[in-house]
Amino acid sequence: MPQSAENGHTSDQDHGIYNANNVKAAIKTILVTGGAGFIGGWFIRHMLKTYRNAYEIICLDNLEYCSSLKNFSAIEHLPNFHFIKGDICDRQHVESVLNDYHVDAIIHLAAESRVDHSFNDPLAFTAINILGTHCLLETCRKYGSIQRFVYVSTDEVYGPNDTTLFPFMEEHPLKPTNPYAATKAAAEMIIHSYRKSFQMPIIVTRCNNVFGPYQYPEKLIPKFIILQEKGSKMPIQGDGRNARAFIFAPDVAEALDTIFHKGSDDETYNISSSTHLQVMQVAEKIYRHFASQNTTDQLSSWVEHLEDRPYNDSMYWADGSKLEALG
Ligand SMILES: NC(=O)c1ccc[n+]([C@@H]2O[C@H](COP(=O)([O-])OP(=O)(O)OC[C@H]3O[C@@H](n4cnc5c(N)ncnc54)[C@H](O)[C@@H]3O)[C@@H](O)[C@H]2O)c1
Ligand SMILES: *[C@@H]1O[C@H](CO)[C@@H](O)[C@H](O)[C@H]1NC(C)=O
Ligand SMILES: *[C@@H]1O[C@H](CO)[C@@H](O)[C@H](O)[C@H]1NC(C)=O
Ligand SMILES: *[C@@H]1O[C@H](CO)[C@@H](O)[C@H](O)[C@H]1NC(C)=O
Ligand SMILES: *[C@@H]1O[C@H](CO)[C@@H](O)[C@H](O)[C@H]1NC(C)=O
Ligand SMILES: *[C@@H]1O[C@H](CO)[C@@H](O)[C@H](O)[C@H]1NC(C)=O
Repeated sequence: MPQSAENGHTSDQDHGIYNANNVKAAIKTILVTGGAGFIGGWFIRHMLKTYRNAYEIICLDNLEYCSSLKNFSAIEHLPNFHFIKGDICDRQHVESVLNDYHVDAIIHLAAESRVDHSFNDPLAFTAINILGTHCLLETCRKYGSIQRFVYVSTDEVYGPNDTTLFPFMEEHPLKPTNPYAATKAAAEMIIHSYRKSFQMPIIVTRCNNVFGPYQYPEKLIPKFIILQEKGSKMPIQGDGRNARAFIFAPDVAEALDTIFHKGSDDETYNISSSTHLQVMQVAEKIYRHFASQNTTDQLSSWVEHLEDRPYNDSMYWADGSKLEALG
């Protein structure tokens, strides 16, 4: 274990990733793609708060509808924070960013992330999640000075555990069932080839469903809260018995920090929560929070059932013990 594992990494001297041989690597500049998104914002704020001016943090984001710079109000004036509007598919631009800022490490979060939408417009997901990731990798390969690359993938690459064999094997097969998850898995395959063919140091993380403040309100929890606040019904696809493991965004930021500093190249880490809730249970919790004293009022009158998804994935399972062992 590197020393920082025991001491926490709060001092400015005692930071930097450790490679497989526990040799400290000098990382100074971190590029965060999709940094203006939900998880990216939490990660950037976490890093700047925890390590103050130890790192230069570059946020590269093309500001899709779901992004927001508003949540950077507390950090945007910091001299070591830089926002750049740009597309990961624009290789020339990304190359100039890598060179101009002498980028050492990348946390790659930029993606089309709305599962629902992937059923209607799957090719948009291929363009950003697969081709975009490939463009970024290729730009990094030519640049040649990336010492750490963390790709943020999803538990959905495993496929719901009703379609796979039990018990899970250590190298769990990837069997995504929706187009979003398939593009995230495909990008993992390209990453695997870049590790092997070009010795690029890449870590993959697979994360459960994230929730927390600043999430774009199209996602389940903020959507239901806003609807209940307005006194409107919560729409539920199918019977609502499908479950997800939910993890709090600040915890994900901390997990990414731990993996960034202590993880090993070529490894995959699940970022998981033991809190599984069915969609209907989420609705019930939110309903209870807003419930009036009206005793004849029932949860059932506050939900409306919609047509199910083309594939109703009942639940995902990710074993997080490897990350726990990392600290
Ligand atoms: N939210 C979750 O529950 C969850 C769970 C597991 C994994 N993930 C993964 O984490 C990452 C971030 O998710 P999020 O919830 O913060 O999503 P988000 O949609 O809030 O953020 C994605 C960001 O990427 C940016 N972006 C999109 N296309 C881009 C492009 N071509 N170039 C540059 N920037 C681009 C968007 O503007 C946005 O700011 C994604 O890769 C997602 O697959 C999310
Ligand atoms: C964060 O961003 C969201 C989405 O744009 C916005 O609704 C919210 O007011 C912002 N909050 C802060 C504290 O900046
Ligand atoms: C998914 O796997 C976990 C762990 O093995 C198990 O407890 C759970 O019941 C499974 N869920 C389904 C729907 O098969
Ligand atoms: C998924 O769909 C099947 C078949 O339509 C249905 O029997 C089942 O209840 C659904 N499961 C969930 C969790 O919605
Ligand atoms: C109580 O709730 C029921 C069911 O939602 C509704 O029909 C009724 O109008 C409510 N009564 C009052 C006094 O709000
Ligand atoms: C991630 O979780 C899956 C499902 O439980 C498990 O099979 C796999 O071994 C875990 N992978 C890692 C790298 O921990």
